[in-house]
Amino acid sequence: MLERIDELETQADADLQQVASADDLERFRIRYLGSKGALKDLMGLLKDVPREQKPRFGQKANALRQKLEQAFEARKGELGDARAAREAGGASEIDVTEPGLPLGLGRVHVLTQTINDLTEVFGRMGFGVATGPEIEDEHHNFVALNIPPEHPARDPLDNFYIGPTHLLRSQTSTIQIRVMEKQPPPVRIVAIGRVYRPDEHDATHTSMFHQIEGLCVDRGVSMVDLKSTLLQFAHLYFGPDADVRLRPSFFPFTEPSAEMEVKITLGGQEQWMEIGGCGMVDPAVFEAVGYDPEQWTGFAFGLGIERLAMRKYGIGDIRWFYENDIRFLRQF
Ligand code: DAH
Repeated sequence: MLERIDELETQADADLQQVASADDLERFRIRYLGSKGALKDLMGLLKDVPREQKPRFGQKANALRQKLEQAFEARKGELGDARAAREAGGASEIDVTEPGLPLGLGRVHVLTQTINDLTEVFGRMGFGVATGPEIEDEHHNFVALNIPPEHPARDPLDNFYIGPTHLLRSQTSTIQIRVMEKQPPPVRIVAIGRVYRPDEHDATHTSMFHQIEGLCVDRGVSMVDLKSTLLQFAHLYFGPDADVRLRPSFFPFTEPSAEMEVKITLGGQEQWMEIGGCGMVDPAVFEAVGYDPEQWTGFAFGLGIERLAMRKYGIGDIRWFYENDIRFLRQF
């Protein structure tokens, strides 16, 4: 008879383990502690227990009742705590009266913005967009651009060579060659991309920067077209008051050649800043790509994008573009 009590205890322990909700717990209570529950039944058996075992039986049954009542109360407390915590937590998570958290919205980097603006301005002037690789061969970076082997621009110390014949392109003029190799004239494109030179870093130089290259080839293109295109661009991009000038210069791939400068105010002082080079495409370049220089003429230009942005936004140091300082970047 006494084993009946042990069996009931084992069964009750196992059932209590399964209790996961208030409903489960109530079923547990009814089954064991209720007025028609298992403990009540147990007491009903007392009359059949042999006399000498009766006291022992009664004690054990009472001990089990107490144990189960305590276990019931403890479990009830735990379930209540969990529920209270859930309700408290849930309430703070969906407090609809709280103001929303501000979303940290990003923005387009000032250089990307500049690139988009330039593409748009030249697009309005009838220029399409071309691209080319950043790892170039000597043919496209130098040879086809009429830059002879002994030219200082080819000095290994002035370039990032990555093998005997390849380098990180030092200018976007490479794309002029790639475009003309692929299509017959007329051509009117701009090409935007990174270029690399082992320059010392200072307020106007970094070893990687961006250029916009332009190329226009057609019949009867003249220096007037070059100059009016660049001046019109400067006024569209910087505004009608922008002061720009062309100064005679030399580049192997243009003849004649010029440097384009724009007036800027740095540290309260007005000065001219070079923003790029330009000129009439050298006939040697046309020959390198198989265009007939007797039929076709053209102009080309290459401008530094960081420098254009420096002039437009009054940025005093080219290195600020790359430092990822949010205080600088969020101004644009
Ligand atoms: N590629 C030259 C440089 O990086 C700039 C340049 C000069 C580009 C004259 C041109 C040009 O297209 O005609 O210094």
